[in-house]
Amino acid sequence: MSRRDADAEADEFADRGRYRRFVNPRWARALRLVGCDREWTHGEGVHLIDSQGRRVLDAIAGYGAATVGHNHPRVIEALRSALDRRTPGMVHFGIPPLAGALAEALLRRSAPSLDKVLFTNSGTEGIEAAIKLARASTGRAMIVHCDHSFHGFTTGSLSLVGVDSLREGFGELLPSRRIPFGDLEALERALSPRDAAAFVVEPVQGKGVRIPPDGWLPEAQRLCRRVGTLLVIDEVQTAFGRTGAMFECVSQGVDDPDVVVVSKALSGGMIPVGAVLARERIWRAMFSSLDRALVHSSTFHQAPLAMSAALAVLELIDDERLVERSARLGSRLRASLESLRSRHRSLGEVRGRGLMIAIDLEPPRPLRGRLESMLWPQGFVMSLLSEGAVLAQVVSQRSATVKFTPPLVLDEAGVDRIVAAVDLALARADSGVIDGSLAALARMARNFLRREPTRSLDAVTRSVRRHPAP
Ligand SMILES: Cc1ncc(COP(=O)(O)O)c(C=O)c1O
Repeated sequence: MSRRDADAEADEFADRGRYRRFVNPRWARALRLVGCDREWTHGEGVHLIDSQGRRVLDAIAGYGAATVGHNHPRVIEALRSALDRRTPGMVHFGIPPLAGALAEALLRRSAPSLDKVLFTNSGTEGIEAAIKLARASTGRAMIVHCDHSFHGFTTGSLSLVGVDSLREGFGELLPSRRIPFGDLEALERALSPRDAAAFVVEPVQGKGVRIPPDGWLPEAQRLCRRVGTLLVIDEVQTAFGRTGAMFECVSQGVDDPDVVVVSKALSGGMIPVGAVLARERIWRAMFSSLDRALVHSSTFHQAPLAMSAALAVLELIDDERLVERSARLGSRLRASLESLRSRHRSLGEVRGRGLMIAIDLEPPRPLRGRLESMLWPQGFVMSLLSEGAVLAQVVSQRSATVKFTPPLVLDEAGVDRIVAAVDLALARADSGVIDGSLAALARMARNFLRREPTRSLDAVTRSVRRHPAP
């Protein structure tokens, strides 16, 4: 090893130590447990490269944010030229130069019912803003949401998350009512007291990639309208081509939504940014007079770098026809994964839209003990990473679901590589080879438990599953 390599390795080791010590030791340990405590030193298109030069196809893409791939030259160029222009950062008392242009670019691509844009720095902030818009415009407090939904970790958004383990331990949240995803009768019942400001819903649920029955979303909108409840569509994960449509709600038949929340892919995952698109009358209810012009804002929103990156990404999506590409490659990926079912006992349902795809796993034999059963899917994604060089994640705590959200700049060869990696990991699973790494994983988890005696087995498994492990 050269002196430079040795120094780099020592630095990396020190970085990991610092992260463990000062940031999140539990997450660092969970990453170690699932074989993913690597340092990704470079990102290049659909690939991540680690400090040892190992090249991996990134099928998580920052929870679906890096739609244009890592470090797209046109996004870098846009950021560079924004820096070169020496525009000031967050002045606030002045007209931000690029916010109007980005708002117009967003509205031009969205449904005609939407006329105003509120910028945010994240998806959860967008949901918070949408809750305030809905409360201001209806004068009601209650929000209806779905089982298994995910809308963010801040307390307002968390009130609408349909996963109890994520809500536990934080005290009282906002008043909310939960219904099964895709159930119109339950929605009608939940809306019937006429006290709901909004029904907040993902058009395709990110957790587990659940797709609603055909026609459910337009019907949900009709029910909402009947009782004066706003339909807030959370497109934080789905918008801008992820599902093979610019906006998934429009492709499902809601072409005049009240409020749509976006983030993630808007800046291609490089700079935090988000936006809430709303009807004029809803916007007016919140910003109802001159003295309420700043009734909702934040220090970093509509920052020039974020606006520049987002404008470049929207142009890229058009120029490289990424929406169509996602639809085409997503069909190919789904069909190829589906074709593996005839050969592998461990592969259950394959589902998804565009390049937002999930597979359910079924262990080929009864597993020994609860720990192994719960960690088995993790062993599968570890095999995907170590042998197939594909980074994917387990998404669901209760079912063994693996999710793929690669960058939309993926090509046919990339699709085939994901399929080959899944094929190999399934073959390993069918023949019991995964059990080797699983046994090691279970051993590590037991050690982990011994060192953390207050934590239950479920808590450990939840912490491993909840995080975007490989
Ligand atoms: C559908 C959905 N809504 C909201 C959020 C929260 O976004 P953020 O992590 O930017 O706060 C996410 C994040 O994964 C999401 O998938």
